[in-house]
Amino acid sequence: MKKRVSQLHEAETINADSVTFPKVEPMVTRQVAIAIDRLTKRFEDVTAVDDLSLKVEEGELFGLLGPNGAGKTTTINILCGLLEPTSGSVVVGGYDVQKFPGRVKELIGVCPQDTAVFSYLTGKENVELFGNLHAMPREKLKQNTQELLGKLSLLEDADRRVSKYSSGMRRRTNLIMALVHDPEIAFLDEPTVAMDVQSRHAVWDFIKDLKRRNKAIILTTHYMEEAEELSDRVGIIDHGKLIALGSQNQLKDRFRAENLEEVFIQLTGRRIREDV
Ligand SMILES: Nc1ncnc2c1ncn2[C@@H]1O[C@H](COP(=O)(O)OP(=O)(O)OP(=O)(O)O)[C@@H](O)[C@H]1O
Ligand SMILES: [Mg+2]
Repeated sequence: MKKRVSQLHEAETINADSVTFPKVEPMVTRQVAIAIDRLTKRFEDVTAVDDLSLKVEEGELFGLLGPNGAGKTTTINILCGLLEPTSGSVVVGGYDVQKFPGRVKELIGVCPQDTAVFSYLTGKENVELFGNLHAMPREKLKQNTQELLGKLSLLEDADRRVSKYSSGMRRRTNLIMALVHDPEIAFLDEPTVAMDVQSRHAVWDFIKDLKRRNKAIILTTHYMEEAEELSDRVGIIDHGKLIALGSQNQLKDRFRAENLEEVFIQLTGRRIREDV
């Protein structure tokens, strides 16, 4: 991703010992990390993503919310280059995903909705395998693996086969596999599904740390308290269409709602989606 651009601007002038000089404050201009422009994806009988446009900046966590079948995973799969759009474009880290899929893969980390780990390998071996796929230098891989296993409380179990792990442990392993190469951009598709409260909080802290380190993140979740805890901005999609976009406060004000769950229910209704 291109380097952050810092701009200086004159804020005010101050007086010290009768010398007047300008007080200069840094004003940070954040780069757009992910740009989705009029994206549509049609499968034979369904339009999964319908004319979707949005942007995510570096250092921003964007919560992509929507009921089952809304088109969240399809969108993420297109952003990763796993699926081709029917029309529209996606640019990730400055690269058109269709034209430069290899460059994009170097920049991104993906935690897929369906946990994908090798059961006959240990947790550590799974992580190292992914680090090697990214051609990480050996020392860096060792260091990152230890650090991430520690942060997500998997050090003690690192040398056990994943077949012996609980589903929450597998999910945490999958998250580490996605991020071991320290990507600039992360797509996290329901990263905390099936986790206990303690693990979920550990993952939240971990994700907050990614934000502090200026990563751009798209997170999908069905846990509204998770979206509230982590999201800088939220997009709600339904039937592939973006039906609301804004900061949490903007959305709560606009829909006169106490919390995101209320906004979500107002927009998407109470009916269970049996058509997916
Ligand atoms: N490979 C496919 N072939 C045909 N239809 C598909 C395919 N993948 C997804 N769909 C359809 O596209 C729509 C969007 O699915 P998607 O998985 O993107 O939803 P989602 O928002 O991630 O849902 P969930 O919250 O359940 O994960 C659904 O109607 C789904 O049945
Ligand atoms: Mg999904």
